[in-house]
Amino acid sequence: MMASDTGASTVTPQVAAVVDAVVKEFAADRTRLMDIVQAIQHCLGQIPDAAVHAVAAGLGIHAVQVEDMVSFYAFLNREPKGRFHIRLSKTPVSLMKGAAEVAQAFAKAAGVSIGGTSPDGEFTVEWTSDIGMADQEPSALINGTVVTDLTPLDPPAIIAALRQVRTANTLPLFPGLDSQGAALSQARVASSLVQTGPIIFRQGGRGDGVRSALTLSPEGVIQEMTKAKLRGRGGAGFPTGLKWKLCRQSISEEHHVVCNADEGEPGTFKDRVLLTEVPDLVFDGMTIAGYALGARHGLVYLRGEYAYLWDALQDVLRNRRRLGLLGHNVCGREGFDFDIRIQLGAGAYVCGEESALLESLEGKRGAPRDRPPFPTDRGYLQQPTAIDNVETFACVTRIMEEGADWFVGYGTRESTGTKLLSVSGDCPHPGVYEVPFGITVNELLDLVGASDAAFVQVGGPSGQCVAPKDFGRRIAYEDLSTGGSVMVFGPGRDVLDVARQFTEFFVEESCGWCAPCRVGTTLLKKNLEKILDDRGTLADITAIEALATTVTRMSRCGLGQTAANPILTTMRNFPQAYEARLQPEPFLPRVTLREALAEAVVVQGREPVSEEERA
Ligand SMILES: Cc1cc2nc3c(=O)[nH]c(=O)nc-3n(C[C@H](O)[C@H](O)[C@H](O)COP(=O)(O)O)c2cc1C
Ligand code: SF4
Repeated sequence: MMASDTGASTVTPQVAAVVDAVVKEFAADRTRLMDIVQAIQHCLGQIPDAAVHAVAAGLGIHAVQVEDMVSFYAFLNREPKGRFHIRLSKTPVSLMKGAAEVAQAFAKAAGVSIGGTSPDGEFTVEWTSDIGMADQEPSALINGTVVTDLTPLDPPAIIAALRQVRTANTLPLFPGLDSQGAALSQARVASSLVQTGPIIFRQGGRGDGVRSALTLSPEGVIQEMTKAKLRGRGGAGFPTGLKWKLCRQSISEEHHVVCNADEGEPGTFKDRVLLTEVPDLVFDGMTIAGYALGARHGLVYLRGEYAYLWDALQDVLRNRRRLGLLGHNVCGREGFDFDIRIQLGAGAYVCGEESALLESLEGKRGAPRDRPPFPTDRGYLQQPTAIDNVETFACVTRIMEEGADWFVGYGTRESTGTKLLSVSGDCPHPGVYEVPFGITVNELLDLVGASDAAFVQVGGPSGQCVAPKDFGRRIAYEDLSTGGSVMVFGPGRDVLDVARQFTEFFVEESCGWCAPCRVGTTLLKKNLEKILDDRGTLADITAIEALATTVTRMSRCGLGQTAANPILTTMRNFPQAYEARLQPEPFLPRVTLREALAEAVVVQGREPVSEEERA
């Protein structure tokens, strides 16, 4: 008997009506489970037991499958939350900018402790991982709406404004937010585009790249990507031309193009800026990929934190359909049909990993797949799929507009073109910078006005912590590789505490599938905390090194394989920070055994046996 039939909870008429309507809206398609549960949560404020069972029945699957999926995502609520759900972005940068004080102010104004819901059911105040606003921290999501640049003075006014709101799905404009004359997405979040370069933020993306691609054969387009030496901007730097070639060669009735807009790496926000400022450039790139791969379907996996971009992006897609840039016979080319759908994520960093992303796209929990087979052979719905980063697709368009020879004129031999960097932390001008590959850390610090940086985290928590002695190193695939995150830390910042926070991030974001990552990251954090508490010795360093090797080598996916990097790179580049905290001798507890057992002695009425007596 299917669990959905057990009637474990009573389905009220309201729940039944909502589930029925939503399941119908998505044609009872099991692969749309993510949309289905999100829509239910939108209506009911949570996904109660009764809804889990009703959805399972509606889709003809087991309730455990629905439960398994729902319980995986941070933004899906099985338990009731406050009418207003305030999620505060917790990152080293947000804490540096005062997020702890802002959180306290929210808690006080709402009458709730952090992590809890107020007794009147109005407010839940919680921490969440980086929401992609490192350039304007402290920031928060309130029922999905982004608020930025918060100070401890803001929460009372925000909470007071929320108390006046009748429906939780329509929020007021909060103090300090100006919607006058600006698109809603720009009104809520500053784009912070500080420096444009020759490639990305130019006039483009109006179909010229697609039309230019259509003058070539699909193989010719792939050759052009190879000639441009385009490498993926999502972090790994895989050659895009080769990925597309492998995908095209894979025989199947359908091929798919997926744009990875999960952008969960703390400190990264350049994809958010791309999707805000030049979405057409990205959609042109996806359409070019569709032509090159023989794909009819494109999917954008948009992180749940960027849900506020949804309406604006749908407008852009509608406009493209009107202009003949999407849909049937794209740009008038007989037989070239291509369209794009956006799938919203639900707050799981691991879903940026391409195989976890595919699982999530199919409406399952975002657990990474075993590889091989690679997505280019068996990706979305087990069909050949090319997954590329938002910025990669923007580059594709510009290569088709201007040519591969033009593109290789920028950057280095191994890293052609430019790179978008999201710069945050202790610098006067945080934001997105388009820079040529090969720029040194020193040159970048000059550009952003950070004259006294003590260390720089390049590539997010999974990247490298760079010391001043290495500021001459270059940002490029052949030296310091990054998906785009650059966090600057000034004098007085504690490098070990930053490493601890990043390690905690991995503990929280581990999907839990494999023990080396699930257990290993927790142990790494505990060991590091011991050193931070001035209780560590050289033996703990040896233990950390052994543990880090296991976690790196034995973890199943890139999350675990890079989770030890915050500790490893700080140990390598800042040994003095560790040495300064180590105790010369093994830690000895300050209380004696007799003192510790004093209470037990009274209760039990007998003395502990000493070592001598035992002998
Ligand atoms: C834990 C983890 C998270 C990732 N997050 C992202 C992400 O948010 N965006 C992204 O483009 N790539 C991310 N990646 C890399 C993707 O797996 C994949 O390599 C990338 O989307 C390929 O696109 P590209 O070739 O254009 O870089 C992540 C990888 C790992 C291991
Ligand atoms: S390495 Fe971590 S995130 Fe990756 S599969 Fe294992 S537990 Fe999950």
